[in-house]
Amino acid sequence: MRTAVVTGGAGFIGSHVADRLLEEGVAVVAVDDLSTGRRENLPAGADFEESDVRDAEAMRSLLSRVRPDAVFHLAAQISVTRSVSEVEYDADVNVRGTATLLEAARLAGVPRFVYVSTGGALYGEADVVPTPEDAPIEPLAPYGLSKWVGERYCDLYERLHGLSTLTLRLANIYGPRQDPHGEAGVVAIFCQRLHAGQRPVVFGDGRQTRDYVYAGDAAEAVLAAGRSDTTGAFNVGRGEEASVLDLVDTLRELSGRDDFQPEHAPERPGEARRSCLDATRAGEALGWRATTPLRDGLAVTLESFAP
Ligand SMILES: NC(=O)c1ccc[n+]([C@@H]2O[C@H](COP(=O)([O-])OP(=O)(O)OC[C@H]3O[C@@H](n4cnc5c(N)ncnc54)[C@H](O)[C@@H]3O)[C@@H](O)[C@H]2O)c1
Repeated sequence: MRTAVVTGGAGFIGSHVADRLLEEGVAVVAVDDLSTGRRENLPAGADFEESDVRDAEAMRSLLSRVRPDAVFHLAAQISVTRSVSEVEYDADVNVRGTATLLEAARLAGVPRFVYVSTGGALYGEADVVPTPEDAPIEPLAPYGLSKWVGERYCDLYERLHGLSTLTLRLANIYGPRQDPHGEAGVVAIFCQRLHAGQRPVVFGDGRQTRDYVYAGDAAEAVLAAGRSDTTGAFNVGRGEEASVLDLVDTLRELSGRDDFQPEHAPERPGEARRSCLDATRAGEALGWRATTPLRDGLAVTLESFAP
């Protein structure tokens, strides 16, 4: 791979993907409308195209000019709450944006298209945990549905036009540069509160579990997907559950801040009790597995949020 386009490259995970590609000597063009992303997230060395992925003209001219070996599509509307309150915007960015980019990739003859999707928001409250890829798709919010439709567009472009596509369904990703002001990103929120001398707000009893994957490991999965010619959907998770209280305990230990004790708030409606992904297939087909232990990833992340 010599040249790659990373949509959402000024965002949290996209910027880690751009970092890793540059380290591998791949030229990177990051596309982002800066709606939630930030210019400062962009690694030095990446070219930047400030554009909206829904802009067909801009995407077509960009891809036919750059002729990348791979497109990594991470740009998205990622807020579950906003997907409920602004359903049209969510569908517009996540569905129309993905269709627009796929069409531009087809027209430019792009050899590989990697789509970054979500695990937790697709499987909802799954019966089998860790959840494999063939579990029922039961989105709890428009966000999960719009990301799922994006996956289906990738499959269709594969069948209809022979465009080589692969979908990664990410678990809960955490690490440096995650937005601590969003609704998700509990690790970023806790790290920021810890440094500000505040206590962590824990919704419900704090025993709800997630599969927390370090951003560098997620970026590695994205690169492995770009190098491979396998198609289909693959979970990206550690297959290990950690509760919100586990996060609080580990951050308290790492910081030595004994007063970092949970402040409980009412449970949030519609929140899954357990979410954890079985990434066996990604191990077999892509040779990928998460290598960063939760404690190590939390230590790096906590440090990165220091004022
Ligand atoms: N963070 C997680 O835990 C997680 C979990 C599962 C899946 N994902 C997926 O990973 C991807 C990246 O998420 P993130 O956590 O880095 O969020 P993020 O908000 O930091 O990144 C998304 C980026 O896309 C950009 N963007 C949004 N709309 C755009 C548009 N119309 N045109 C161009 N750029 C646009 C934003 O400015 C932002 O930089 C998303 O596709 C998301 O669905 C994230």
